[in-house]
Amino acid sequence: MRPDPGGRPGAVRVRSAAKINLHLGVGAPRDDGFHPLDTVYQAVSLYDDLTASRADDWSVTTRTAVHLGDVALPGPGDNIVDRVAELLCATRCDEGCRPTARVEIDKTIPVAGGMAGGSADAAAALVALDRLWDLRTPDDALLDLAAQLGSDVPFALVGGTAHGLGRGEVVTAVEDHGSWAWVVVPDTGGLSTPAVYRHWDTLFPDAPATPAPAQPVLTALASGDPMALAAALRNDLEAAAVDLRPDLGELIARGEAEGALRGMVSGSGPTCVFLCESPEAARDVATALSATRDVVLTAHGPVAGAHLLG
Ligand code: C5P
Repeated sequence: MRPDPGGRPGAVRVRSAAKINLHLGVGAPRDDGFHPLDTVYQAVSLYDDLTASRADDWSVTTRTAVHLGDVALPGPGDNIVDRVAELLCATRCDEGCRPTARVEIDKTIPVAGGMAGGSADAAAALVALDRLWDLRTPDDALLDLAAQLGSDVPFALVGGTAHGLGRGEVVTAVEDHGSWAWVVVPDTGGLSTPAVYRHWDTLFPDAPATPAPAQPVLTALASGDPMALAAALRNDLEAAAVDLRPDLGELIARGEAEGALRGMVSGSGPTCVFLCESPEAARDVATALSATRDVVLTAHGPVAGAHLLG
């Protein structure tokens, strides 16, 4: 589509990546119910692509990759992208403006799997609609809006590898000297993030307020050594996710027996991820796990945060 007479683009396409938490230290819940986190995020090469085009009204449609299977998607008006549009309109547009665009999302990130697919879509929509509507929102204001949309939306904007504090929304880029090879095993038997946090509260009623610091992972990242990173990986939510879904523990053990340096639950799960020594080793582990799993993916990180395509 051609730009309009004001020079605004006719359509904007943005790519946004999935995340893995290399370290997820969780503290006792705060007064607002959120848990303080000390986390290290890494953006990995599974993507959702979002296209926003000029239109007379507002619509959001989602196409899912075959490997995602028959997943339940948000209904009309319920998508996080609807909230992005409302928030941008309320904070960055003239009073009384109403969002108009046709938004199409091509999803390959596992849905409700602990890889922040919804947050990736929110970040992509922020970048795309800001551009489509020519709002020119400064980066720090975009990060503020992202934090209002979800704890890991700011990271989805920033990408790469980053340290997250607060409830995960305060992100700072970190030194990462590696190119890390992952196997990703999605799972459709959704564990909801709030349910996993609630279960963690019942398992650890005396948890300290301050989450475990990320220093071991930060040091391993700077070394670039996969063995060092494998030894340092930590996800405090894993105990809660595996208690709710014991089969995830069995999957992790199988991946490690097949040659992964380390397996773990991704975020709140139920997707599991496996760090491997090299891309070749990741392909071997993926092939072995494919004997009993329908969908096994490989990915690498770090990759960029939400960015314009073409
Ligand atoms: O911020 P976000 O919308 O991603 O959070 C989803 C849910 O996950 C929250 O409503 C809360 O139950 C839980 N959560 C939490 N502590 C965090 C992040 C998320 O308890 N730091």
